[in-house]
Amino acid sequence: MRWCAASRRACPAATSRTNAATVTIVFAVSDLEVIAADASTCTRCPLAGGRTQVVFGRGDPGAGLMFVGEGPGADEDAAGLPFVGRSGKLLDRLIAEEMGLSRADVYVANVVKCRPPGNRDPRPEEMAACRPWLDAQIDRVDPRVVVTLGNVATRALLGRGDGITKLRGRAYPWNRRQLIPTYHPSAALRGSPGVMAAMRGDLVRAKLALAAASSVGSPAG
Ligand code: URA
Repeated sequence: MRWCAASRRACPAATSRTNAATVTIVFAVSDLEVIAADASTCTRCPLAGGRTQVVFGRGDPGAGLMFVGEGPGADEDAAGLPFVGRSGKLLDRLIAEEMGLSRADVYVANVVKCRPPGNRDPRPEEMAACRPWLDAQIDRVDPRVVVTLGNVATRALLGRGDGITKLRGRAYPWNRRQLIPTYHPSAALRGSPGVMAAMRGDLVRAKLALAAASSVGSPAG
């Protein structure tokens, strides 16, 4: 058995002989891919009936930093990928400018994986039905730092009813990690005063938390 980087589990290896050397080829299907395939046919809540496709998540499956949004919008439902619309473009820009990272360096997911009709907030029972998928993503990616985007994601993960304006501005120890709430990029796109500056500050906070966690080499919190 070999250790598969993608799944962080032992996985079967196939060994083949060439002329002089023995080459080990690892056939690894990561846990995340298996879970995404399972999720792609999910019917755990009524949102399944209105989706074009499940929007599971995207990014580096070994990322130290994970972003959690609310749920797919029309663009994401069509593309099957999270944060591809205007909010996503702004998120990419802020990640690049404040953290020096690209989308490929992080993992991005949502609280619900299917588009709520008319972009309404997901209902508590929909979030509860979808939660096992998010928990599995967090477990497998195993990020040191989780950034929640907006009220829905922050309340869902922190389990607190306060609004994002009250909850943001600090890091929370959370399940051996650091959770850093910030505004949803759509709030910055609406031009709410101070939101963009606050988001920039929160992303710098996340960057520092990631650096601190990396320097001690074990999950923070
Ligand atoms: N808003 C979200 O919360 N998630 C997306 O994937 C896109 C927009």
